[in-house]
Amino acid sequence: MRAIISLAIVAILCQSLGAQEQAKLYKFTPGEVWPDAAGNPIQAHGGAVIVRDGAYYWYGEDRTVRSRTDVSCYSSTDLYNWKREGVAFKRDDLPEDIRGRTFIERPKVIYNAKTGKYVLWMHLEQQGYHFAEAGIAVGDQPAGPFTFLRHMRPVQYDADYKDDDPDRQKEFGGTYRDMNLFVDDDGKAYALYASEGNWTLYIVRLNDEYTGPETPMAQDKTWARVLVRKMREAPAPFKHNGRYYLITSGCTGWNPNAADYAVADNILGPWESKGNPCTGPESELTFRSQSTCVLPVAGKPGCFIFMSDRWNPRRLPDSRYIWLPLKMDADGAFTIRWQNEWDLSWFDK
Ligand code: DGJ
Repeated sequence: MRAIISLAIVAILCQSLGAQEQAKLYKFTPGEVWPDAAGNPIQAHGGAVIVRDGAYYWYGEDRTVRSRTDVSCYSSTDLYNWKREGVAFKRDDLPEDIRGRTFIERPKVIYNAKTGKYVLWMHLEQQGYHFAEAGIAVGDQPAGPFTFLRHMRPVQYDADYKDDDPDRQKEFGGTYRDMNLFVDDDGKAYALYASEGNWTLYIVRLNDEYTGPETPMAQDKTWARVLVRKMREAPAPFKHNGRYYLITSGCTGWNPNAADYAVADNILGPWESKGNPCTGPESELTFRSQSTCVLPVAGKPGCFIFMSDRWNPRRLPDSRYIWLPLKMDADGAFTIRWQNEWDLSWFDK
């Protein structure tokens, strides 16, 4: 018995020593386990990174406990090494009437320079994926805590929904599923999300506080249907030289498929699809991953990091991160290539 206890103590000590001794990282290794500064695998799936006061904050799905998801927050100053700041928003902080059966997907946070608040939008879902609502919360600090404001479907549009529509869109508005946020140079923010049962993407300008849609809503003025009936999800928007870019995936559940990117001069469209930006082996499967965000590299115009999730549906917490470099060509096109490992000096080559 004594021997067993000693062995257990040694194992725990080794584990915690190992965790403390997490070596500093100097490169990205797409698809490998990505440890945080304490040595634990990063839990920030379906997420995005923002920059504030010289620090990066990475928000995403914390899937440590499989049956639920919280919103995690990590911070970094170099993009390789991430310190866990904790849970920014807990599933348990959802309103009581939906809390027990609702989970969170693809959370995104933006900073509102006017109000000085951090605003969190997330896809709230329930078993069967018919709940399909936006959840909105605000916080004073990047790592939270965030206070829940409301849940909603932002757009009521008549897309000729059937009376037996399982998503009940006639009644409650268009579904709100895979989502992202984008803050334009003029400070206006937009929610981009898969709607109409994933058939069509919606882009909706937000109010000055970023806490809901801008009202009164007017189609093609404050919101728009884009990539109509194209069945795209996982929207990852970015801007370069005054043009808007949007990487999306097809809709095949947790299984990977081919990405597409579209380009527009106006964020509300029209958007023109340019095809799959990925090239090389497994490019038809986005290197076995699904887009989640495109992060501009600070100080390097035209240089971005394509962030993607390699989902592991059997063990979602063990889903991996695929971060790959994306550099714009002179003509405003780009390709994404697989790298076994790379670092930010890739952009200087
Ligand atoms: C694909 C979406 O992109 C994911 O966020 C998740 O909702 C899965 N579908 C669920 O099947």
